[in-house]
Amino acid sequence: MKKSISALLIAAALIFSATTVFAASGSSLFSSEGCIACHAINGQGGSVGPDLSHVGSHRSLSWLKIQITHPSEHFAAGTTANINGQSYQSIMPGHSNMPASKLNALAAYLESLK
Ligand code: HEC
Repeated sequence: MKKSISALLIAAALIFSATTVFAASGSSLFSSEGCIACHAINGQGGSVGPDLSHVGSHRSLSWLKIQITHPSEHFAAGTTANINGQSYQSIMPGHSNMPASKLNALAAYLESLK
């Protein structure tokens, strides 16, 4: 009985730390993958692309994954994208080679920004 309780506690601790790492890596990927050069979150970053501080309130997780990997499926390259009442040149590079683990963490982070 004692053994199973400690096994349970270890499992809970592992799940907790995995969730924490998951959440942290989404925001650090935003910098390390270069998104921050063109996009700002909470006042930090570039303005070539739209501000993403509240992007999760108007875009779904699956929409965000497509935008990261194949942005031209949403906004044809070289045209003007109208997002939240602002116009942008559609120049976002596709990140089609991003590993699924990074893509999932980054998209989940963005989706959490309400
Ligand atoms: C060279 C500049 C540039 C880089 C780098 C860039 N983007 Fe973008 N992004 C844009 C532009 C411009 C748009 C407007 C539409 C388009 O071009 O597809 C956009 C649109 C978006 C949108 C849609 C926002 C909305 O409110 O609908 C999301 C989400 C997004 N980018 C996320 C990212 C992420 C995540 C990264 C990093 C992996 C990234 N972008 C890298 C320029 C960039």
